[in-house]
Amino acid sequence: MNESTVLPISYDPSGAVIRETGISQADLDWLAPRLVAARNEVLDDLALLHSDEPVPKEKEPLDAGFIDLPERLLADHSSKGERSQLARIKRAADALADHVDRVVILGIGGSYMGARALFEACCHPYHNELGRIQRGRRPQIFFEGNNVDNDAMSGLFDLLLGEGPHRFGIVVISKSGSTLETAVALRILLEQLRGTCDGDLEKVRELVIPITGLKSRLRSLCMELQCPEIFPIPDGVGGRFSVLSAVGLVPAAVMGLDTVKLLEGAALTNRRFCNSQPGDNPVLDYVGVCHLMETRRGATTRVLSTWGKGLEAVGLWHDQLLAESLGKNGQGALPLTCVNTRDLHSRGQQHQEGRRDKMITNLVVERPKCEPVAIKPSTLNQDQLNDLAGKPLADVLSAALAGTNRAYADDRRPTADLRLPRLDEMSLGQLFQMFMLAVAVEGRLIGINPYGQPGVEAYKRHMNELLRKK
Ligand code: PA5
Repeated sequence: MNESTVLPISYDPSGAVIRETGISQADLDWLAPRLVAARNEVLDDLALLHSDEPVPKEKEPLDAGFIDLPERLLADHSSKGERSQLARIKRAADALADHVDRVVILGIGGSYMGARALFEACCHPYHNELGRIQRGRRPQIFFEGNNVDNDAMSGLFDLLLGEGPHRFGIVVISKSGSTLETAVALRILLEQLRGTCDGDLEKVRELVIPITGLKSRLRSLCMELQCPEIFPIPDGVGGRFSVLSAVGLVPAAVMGLDTVKLLEGAALTNRRFCNSQPGDNPVLDYVGVCHLMETRRGATTRVLSTWGKGLEAVGLWHDQLLAESLGKNGQGALPLTCVNTRDLHSRGQQHQEGRRDKMITNLVVERPKCEPVAIKPSTLNQDQLNDLAGKPLADVLSAALAGTNRAYADDRRPTADLRLPRLDEMSLGQLFQMFMLAVAVEGRLIGINPYGQPGVEAYKRHMNELLRKK
């Protein structure tokens, strides 16, 4: 594609270059060769994964396969056309959208948060409340299997079945295929779906799209059900690094989003990551600033301060990515997502005057998708807003951001700005890849394996023991 048509995301850390409480150019210069070495290790990890060499024990698990996945999927699409995975995903998603008007996406953790982020960022803010035509004939989207909440599940039944036994679709995502939350939700909803199809499994199978690992119970179940498509989560791609595999792409396609643009955005981030030096490399610069703030200034809390309502779930996806990747061996910064201006009225006080343990990264969208909504002049000026008449809401938000950054700077509180040209597939593809590469680089920089999440197994073991004990 023509590179000049792609608007790149940008990272500006100048608000963190502050004497005594922030970082200096000398710190960044000192770190630069170490960042380059960590980048090289991450790329060597990828080469090792694709080689026939055994993976050394200290590198296990090695889930670097997310790195070149966008290029691999795009190349598959160019060479195989209608037989490519992307084309199959689109066909399956379109068929489901034609058959039903409600789809429940089942999954948890890395098998859930990316799809939710895409839904909230890229779909209409009131997607589910709109009529089918306004939704572009795409189904309403619901998420389950991300908890075990009786009343939430019961509420979903009311919605799906309350007005009569309407059929609905299921997209079920689980790499292991054995995660209890997702498996339980699938069992329950599959039985409901079977009821709406008068027990006819031939009809049921048309309404289920599974995405799972190569040797999972879920795969066996869906093969027994004879689902027309079962999409893979490739080996070497871990859950929270899988948003740009079928895990995020199938839900995106069901929502009617452009999966090619997501992958092209990610590929652009890869080119910048591989070819640019620190100082001109958003991934390395972001890691460098966060790492220096943590190690030199005790900024153990990383606030992703999102501006606008569509980015909250992107922030929660990022929380999981950072927490599960680097929260190991007594290390790892605490991720925290804010949505502004909402949270200026809750967390803002603490960020302005609380403990100096925070690095604030603003996540900003340059331009809204819709026509500007402006403040109107009014004969009722008791609110004294006529002097703002004509100002678009986007300008008010920009003033809030600039004012907040200025207030933090006045108190020598460090900030950085990460800017997305638009809240669309191209920007999100760039951003997802940037954050995933960043945790991989930071892990290698601090000697933590960013892949795997051994600490999550303990609760699962105890839960299963408690549930299954006689
Ligand atoms: O990042 C991860 O690997 C985890 O968050 C998993 O995605 C999560 O535990 C769900 O696992 P699974 O996809 O096997 O159901």
